[in-house]
Amino acid sequence: MNHIFKEGTDLNSYTLLLLHGTGGSENDLLPLAEEYDADANILSVRGNVSENGMNRFFKRLQEGVFDIEDLKFRTQELNEFLDTAAEQYDFNRRKVIAVGYSNGANIAGSLLFHYNDALAGAILHHPMVPLREISLPNLSGIPVFIGAGTNDPICPPEESTELNDLLTDSGAEVMLHWESYGHQLTAPEVEAASKWFEENKNRLK
Ligand code: MLT
Repeated sequence: MNHIFKEGTDLNSYTLLLLHGTGGSENDLLPLAEEYDADANILSVRGNVSENGMNRFFKRLQEGVFDIEDLKFRTQELNEFLDTAAEQYDFNRRKVIAVGYSNGANIAGSLLFHYNDALAGAILHHPMVPLREISLPNLSGIPVFIGAGTNDPICPPEESTELNDLLTDSGAEVMLHWESYGHQLTAPEVEAASKWFEENKNRLK
């Protein structure tokens, strides 16, 4: 997969996995990583799917309706890419923290729904429930921040609550943070995620 890897101050500490939104690229979330932890290793990946020239992490049939077969395939592909990248760059595979926005948050959510060891934690900005009718693995102790909008037309509040419940019921330690905005990523949400990360990251080192 196309990507950027930046070594931080300690290869054995955690690595932030950056996953952009629809139409984005591996450059988009670099400023967020700087905000959350300027010392972390960074692996920023570009989605392998093109929708009319817009990069995505999996196909969709229409806005908000996912191609589930492709989502499963791409989730496995990304998980395998993480294994390969960890070997190539020698970062700690067990300490990968996803930072995703929108479509990128959705594939990060799908990694959590499929594997109990793909991610050590996640910051999900405006995620949806990636798929249903799947039993989630045991996610005990995995910290997850969800940034949601009370007026998000792409992810309605009930869906953010449903995602919170599904992850919590599987053992994840979820912080659901609300802003009274739409689907956009706002400065107060980034600030809240940054504070949450500061409080939780020491458990991950
Ligand atoms: C998706 O397709 O993953 C969601 O609708 C969010 C987005 O537009 O990227």
